[in-house]
Amino acid sequence: MISNRVKDLKESATLKINAQVNALKAEGKTIYNMTAGEPDFPPPAEAKRAVMDAVEKNLSKYTPTAGIPELRKLIAENANSQHPELAKTNPWKPSEVVVSNGGKQAIFDAILALINPGDEVVFGAPYWLSYPEMVKVADGKSVVIPTLLARDYKFSAQELEHVLTPRSKLLILNSPSNPTGTIYDRTELQAIGAVLARHPQVWILSDEIYDRIDFDGKWCSFLDACPELRDRTVTVNGLSKSGAMTGWRIGWSIAPQTLTSALISLQGHSTSGISSLSQAAAVAALKLPRENFAPFLKEYLHRRSLALEVLGKSAKIKVYEPAGAFYLFLDVREVLREKQNADGFAEKVLQDIQVAVVSGVDFGAPTCIRLSFATDEETIRTACERLADYCR
Ligand SMILES: Cc1ncc(COP(=O)(O)O)c(C=O)c1O
Repeated sequence: MISNRVKDLKESATLKINAQVNALKAEGKTIYNMTAGEPDFPPPAEAKRAVMDAVEKNLSKYTPTAGIPELRKLIAENANSQHPELAKTNPWKPSEVVVSNGGKQAIFDAILALINPGDEVVFGAPYWLSYPEMVKVADGKSVVIPTLLARDYKFSAQELEHVLTPRSKLLILNSPSNPTGTIYDRTELQAIGAVLARHPQVWILSDEIYDRIDFDGKWCSFLDACPELRDRTVTVNGLSKSGAMTGWRIGWSIAPQTLTSALISLQGHSTSGISSLSQAAAVAALKLPRENFAPFLKEYLHRRSLALEVLGKSAKIKVYEPAGAFYLFLDVREVLREKQNADGFAEKVLQDIQVAVVSGVDFGAPTCIRLSFATDEETIRTACERLADYCR
């Protein structure tokens, strides 16, 4: 009954583990949950007020498909201030912005708009688990470049060149990365850009949703490193992570006009414009100075140090120190039992020590688990202590 396109899609790993967590909680168990893919902070007060004002003003009608003009303008202006070089020669225009229901819709629509059956979509593993599923829906073919912890979970320009073929249509870059937290610096992006210059049929989707969670100040937007690729790059961002508004579903893409028009047609026949209330919140949040985010970054940094220190007590867990985002990616291969992969391990630690983590299987890393430190200190300390003890 279910179409071929949809029947093979995997259930989200995070939803799966959360259902198990809820079942255990219903039995009265205390669970130390490190699965959250969202900040535990409230959204900015200004954004909350803007939503309430919008309700009072009866802003309850359909919105333009690509977003209200004020928001598109703000997004373009923000992008221009982030890319000073590009802004000098070829600044982003509001007409090149499409506001979507989260970064997720922006990515999904870009893939649908670019991929024909059999086209190849290249990305590194470990990857955000939705990329291969989205590629499947578009009847594309995922081409995965494996990466290693020892090389900061990054692929090199040479490794990219090696997998590119005439059928390659799209490269997805995700820096800072979910799940590893790795960040490609300017030089590495430029080397990737030099390879792409030799493959003019390849588009680039730069998923920059974690851009503000950058612990060493090394993050660089893809187009800042490679402005010459503007005509075939779509940059995705949003307020889910940086604005702590995951449930308000505010994301966007910035892309050349040719692609933008296709994205607007697609969105016009699927979800239409996003909620008027969310757009009011987005306008208020984007008017806030960037410095407002500094306290969150400091808090994430503190939590990262805490988790790394506690996990360091077990020599058997190999932990990657993330340069950005709010995840820790742990290689637990040394403690896996025979025939056990990270799915089995995650289930076991939930049952045995009441610690909830996400298995790396769906991220393309079957011996790894992902921990989110977007949660309180007590949870981080207890969960990491229990894990370290368990693995010792
Ligand atoms: C790498 C990455 N890209 C995009 C998204 C989509 O974010 P949202 O749709 O909540 O804005 C997420 C969310 O977890 C993510 O981790």
